[in-house]
Amino acid sequence: MSERLYIFDTTLRDGEQALPQSLSAREKMQIALALEQLGVDVIETGFPVSSRGDFESVRSIASVLKRAVPCGLSRAVAGDIDACAEALKAAERFRIHTFIATSDIHVRDKLRKDFDRILEMGVEAVRRARNYTDDVEFSCEDAGRTPIDHLCRMVEAAIDAGATTVNIPDTVGYTTPDEFYRIIRHLKENVPNIGKAVISVHCHNDLGLAVANSLAAVRAGARQVEGTINGIGERAGNVALEEVIMALRTRAGQFGDVTDNINTKEIVRTSRIVARMSGMQVQRSKAIVGENAFAHSSGIHQHGILNCRETYEVMDPQAVGWGATELPLTKHSGRAAVKSRLEQLGHVLTEEEVIHKL
Ligand code: KIV
Ligand code: ZN
Repeated sequence: MSERLYIFDTTLRDGEQALPQSLSAREKMQIALALEQLGVDVIETGFPVSSRGDFESVRSIASVLKRAVPCGLSRAVAGDIDACAEALKAAERFRIHTFIATSDIHVRDKLRKDFDRILEMGVEAVRRARNYTDDVEFSCEDAGRTPIDHLCRMVEAAIDAGATTVNIPDTVGYTTPDEFYRIIRHLKENVPNIGKAVISVHCHNDLGLAVANSLAAVRAGARQVEGTINGIGERAGNVALEEVIMALRTRAGQFGDVTDNINTKEIVRTSRIVARMSGMQVQRSKAIVGENAFAHSSGIHQHGILNCRETYEVMDPQAVGWGATELPLTKHSGRAAVKSRLEQLGHVLTEEEVIHKL
């Protein structure tokens, strides 16, 4: 039987963090409403303790969402968790997402603590968050570079403390798909209480591997994918959710039998809203949402498409919200495309005319 894959959007938190200019409350609200219409399951609306503005926009978005679950981020610190709960309390249901770094380099050089203290702080944070909601996500920041025995201990302790989702971020986009697959499998096979929580992944794109890593994790059993629209986010960005979703739809079966709740026809519209509000333009050739993603230029390709769309398209552009396939007339176009364009304009040519005039 098909298993549910949850889509967690962090455009308003990890995505916004990377913008040269922050989003206004009105822009954040517009993005949140578009995300809800797209069908994402969880919306990370912000980091309430970070500023008054973030707190207020988390609060107002939480009060209007109807279907998507609003979520706020907090470090594993009491004040952060309390601020999250305060900002989210207007919502019928909400998620608190608390995190602490677990890799040796972060524990030693950033937090300057030992791992056992980190473990305690993570557990205390989850317990505190559970006093406010029964939907608590715990993230092991820099999980991709965390020694596997530490990762297993942290995940097990967080679940025992009440985490209902455990997130395994590849914070610095360092892992490879095979490695990331093995990390998720190892957790599934070695953490005794793993069945009590959803395994989530959160991949950054520093080596351009975020989509491949997220898909490898789903194949290994992760059942929540976190990312952003258009892949905006810290440094080289977060995984682009539209790419993960369309890979799963187009190559169903390659990654396990999973079903998401996304209305793919909303993808292009959502991408445009995020690009406009964030000022982060989408590159023309970007998969799924780039202007050129469904445009065919060479004569051979145009001829193929006109005979049968699937010769050069693995997805129907209309399935993600584009209009029809585009055949721009370029110096590489052949007779087939010119004839087809003339027909659209009302000039039907005979075979003779096609041969002699085009
Ligand atoms: O990249 C990361 O590790 C994060 C965490 C806060 C989940 O964004
Ligand atoms: Zn991140």
